[in-house]
Amino acid sequence: MSQASETAPSLSQSFRAAMGCFTTGVTIVTSCSTAGPVGMTANSLTSVSLDPSLLLVCLKKGGLTGEAIRAHRSFAINLLAEAQEDLAMRFARPSDNRFGGVEVDWDARGVPLIHGSAAHIVCDLHAVHDAGDHEIFLGQVVSSVHDKAIEPLVFRAGRFGTYQPRAVPA
Ligand SMILES: Cc1cc2nc3c(=O)[nH]c(=O)nc-3n(C[C@H](O)[C@H](O)[C@H](O)COP(=O)(O)O)c2cc1C
Repeated sequence: MSQASETAPSLSQSFRAAMGCFTTGVTIVTSCSTAGPVGMTANSLTSVSLDPSLLLVCLKKGGLTGEAIRAHRSFAINLLAEAQEDLAMRFARPSDNRFGGVEVDWDARGVPLIHGSAAHIVCDLHAVHDAGDHEIFLGQVVSSVHDKAIEPLVFRAGRFGTYQPRAVPA
């Protein structure tokens, strides 16, 4: 291997590393398949429009959760609390039983809402757009609840953390 290929990161590596400087919250996107609830950890959430209320999340092509959302036509965004790092890890790894022992409520649209989350946003599928090795799932928000008292889980440069607001100046 040449020295140049050892030292120079590819464009996708440097892009990924640069995006690590962008601190995000952490969500679990949930929906329902014929086999039961499905969900995956995602931090690509973006608020898109207020009127109408739209959001987007980018999901890797070929994943179970994206497939289920296409079929079920509705999904939920569970905005994770700082105490839910273990769930964030569990829903990012391959497993036959991601929901084992996880307490959920079922929304009227048949999507699972994970207990203890800082917010739940339920969406109907508005559109799916092709985007490289991912797809952009646009959701039309149909309901949204949050608990201001719950501190969020945050993610930066491959590590989970907690949010520390600056003290309000006296
Ligand atoms: C903090 C964090 C954020 C993630 N964000 C995304 C994301 O936005 N989109 C995505 O496709 N995968 C994301 N992943 C990876 C998926 O959670 C992982 O590939 C998961 O196994 C996919 O689930 P599936 O089997 O239902 O497709 C993220 C993982 C972590 C730990």
